[in-house]
Amino acid sequence: MKTLVSASILSADFGHLSDELSRAEASGCDMIHFDVMDGHFVPNISYGVPVLKSIRKYSGLPFDVHLMISDPGAYLEPFAKAGADGITFHLEATANPVVIIDKIHSLGLRAGVSIKPKTDVSLLYPLVGLMDMALIMTVEPGFGGQGFIPETLDKIKALREYSSDIDIEVDGGISDKTAHLVRDAGANILVSGSYLFRATDMASNCKLLKNN
Ligand code: DX5
Ligand code: ZN
Repeated sequence: MKTLVSASILSADFGHLSDELSRAEASGCDMIHFDVMDGHFVPNISYGVPVLKSIRKYSGLPFDVHLMISDPGAYLEPFAKAGADGITFHLEATANPVVIIDKIHSLGLRAGVSIKPKTDVSLLYPLVGLMDMALIMTVEPGFGGQGFIPETLDKIKALREYSSDIDIEVDGGISDKTAHLVRDAGANILVSGSYLFRATDMASNCKLLKNN
């Protein structure tokens, strides 16, 4: 499968967000990863619907929205209207993942389901065929710039063995040191924040994520 890179703007310079979006697009990134945190599901607060709505017009890339919030079902429509192309929610945040997947699809968007590093990957298996993408967190969600958790590699491998064609995204601690590990395990969409936005040459770092 072709490797795609989704640039997490959590590590961008918020004073120059439109320039940062252009830099990611010009550097060969394939998507913009938009991390939403509510200070409840994760111990941090980031940004939400008004920011997405405001910056959407500055990028031609698809917006890959990652909801790290306790009540994802309540916010699907506002994020869809603000310009999301895909919405990923956390399995740990809901008792009804199928209902949320259906709602995301009814809004015309791609549906992703994410698990934290300690969640059993087999809980995702019943959703293969319903969701478009699985997001396996490779750090505890909440902050950029953390170290990659190697134990998550087995989860990626197990899910790839279960499904040869589902999109598997990984998020957290992805750099030139870890990209080949997650790609070899079966991930095909790599989220990266600090490694891309703190680079002086983002294009070369983006290339290294795709083939190092
Ligand atoms: C963390 C977020 C990530 C974060 C990744 O909870 O979901 O998307 O921005 O940052 P890096 O690539 O710096 O680990
Ligand atoms: Zn994320």
